[in-house]
Amino acid sequence: MPQFEQASEIFRTSWGLYSKVVEHDYMTHQRLNSAVRAVVVAHFGQHRLRLIELGCGDAAQTAQIFRDLPVDDYQGCDLSDVALDYARGNLSGLAASTELVCVDLMSFLRGREQPVDIIYASFALHHLSLPDKKDFAVQALRLLKPRGLAIIVDVFREAHQSRPGYLDAYLSVVRDQWHALDGPELAALEAHVRDNDFPETVDTYLSICEAAGLRRHSKPLELGPHKLLIFERVS
Ligand SMILES: C[S@@+](CC[C@H](N)C(=O)[O-])C[C@H]1O[C@@H](n2cnc3c(N)ncnc32)[C@H](O)[C@@H]1O
Repeated sequence: MPQFEQASEIFRTSWGLYSKVVEHDYMTHQRLNSAVRAVVVAHFGQHRLRLIELGCGDAAQTAQIFRDLPVDDYQGCDLSDVALDYARGNLSGLAASTELVCVDLMSFLRGREQPVDIIYASFALHHLSLPDKKDFAVQALRLLKPRGLAIIVDVFREAHQSRPGYLDAYLSVVRDQWHALDGPELAALEAHVRDNDFPETVDTYLSICEAAGLRRHSKPLELGPHKLLIFERVS
């Protein structure tokens, strides 16, 4: 199985496990969602929006962030057909034309041609290799309209942390604090994280995105390892 399909395996077989994590807000979605919504409202006002979402999952967070905002066009992708089935329902309240595609997110991004206002990826890019993360930034610059935003919510390593150090620290918090998960769920989650999570540092993202020609839009929001980074295509 290719690495990108393996990274999505748990989201095809056990969407309920991830839903439980989100329901208990263990990954701080609520504060991150509010921050994303505030930036979108402040930056775009009443401008009508075209939006791409990478690794949208069930799009429940997206529906919350963009509720009542003037989204004309939403294009989402994910490798989990189970999650996409939920996404169709969750997005039904958006007054936008909606396209959901079951495909690898980098193939999706590379195949798009129409410029968009926002490229949004929440807890999906850490599954990519470093070369693919670099290409994400290149493709984002290509697809964003002037003033468009690349909005990245994800897990990040601290500057001093190696990947093994990050994994041990993250999983120790999971074991100590994610009480709603039972033993088999914790074991499945730990195996997924150890095999598939490749978080970068904030500085790595700043270098990658600046090298591609994107500019940092605002100071990162850092909630422990869960962070929000926003980049802008200036012209
Ligand atoms: C942690 S979930 C995040 C879901 C949602 N964006 C959120 O924030 O709740 C990661 C999602 O990325 C998807 N995913 C992982 N690798 C992918 C890839 N290469 N292409 C498309 N989707 C991918 C998974 O199937 C999963 O739905």
